[in-house]
Amino acid sequence: MSSDLRGDLVAALAGFYAGHPDAERYPMLSEVGGLLAAALDTAEVVVNEPVVLPAARLLADVDPESDVPGVGPVLRTFAAAAPILNWIQTAEYAATLSQHFLDNYGYVRVIGPGGLVESGVVSAGLGVWGAGLHYPRHEHPAEETYHLLHGSASFQRDDGPWEPKVVGESVHHDPWEHHAQRFDNTTCVLSWAWTGDVVVNARLVPEGS
Ligand SMILES: [Fe+2]
Repeated sequence: MSSDLRGDLVAALAGFYAGHPDAERYPMLSEVGGLLAAALDTAEVVVNEPVVLPAARLLADVDPESDVPGVGPVLRTFAAAAPILNWIQTAEYAATLSQHFLDNYGYVRVIGPGGLVESGVVSAGLGVWGAGLHYPRHEHPAEETYHLLHGSASFQRDDGPWEPKVVGESVHHDPWEHHAQRFDNTTCVLSWAWTGDVVVNARLVPEGS
């Protein structure tokens, strides 16, 4: 793999997931980490056309220093590569959520369909959500683990309690489990990892269902 900024980001995320202690609880993380690590040796990074969304500006406010293993390199390489990455938003969200939300939300797929490393069996990357955003309830067929890398946020699963999370903590969602997030008063950066059906996008869950 080339050693440009895109390759550096792949390497940093591989380093974050490799041997992550949460893999004991969530074996899917071993699959994601293993494929990222393998890609460092065998895969060519895909050079997509850069598409920089407004949310990328929020990385300028992110302090990459962290005591949590693996977090600092991910935040540093994400910020460095941000201007040349293919930033995306889930299509349904772009069509339905407020302009304020869309101006403060975006993500980058590091591995997965259309990612820096192509894969049809896992999908993982990094997302940014601006201070105070409420990410409405949504669902998807993939199994998911989030890790909070910057900021703080509360997470709700189904109709359960809102659980506050800080940097280094994770949240796991089963396939089709409803979930929502409320982001606190600083920019949040999350890594997400999907396994299973990674092709079908997330979709919003109508209120009351
Ligand atoms: Fe999700």
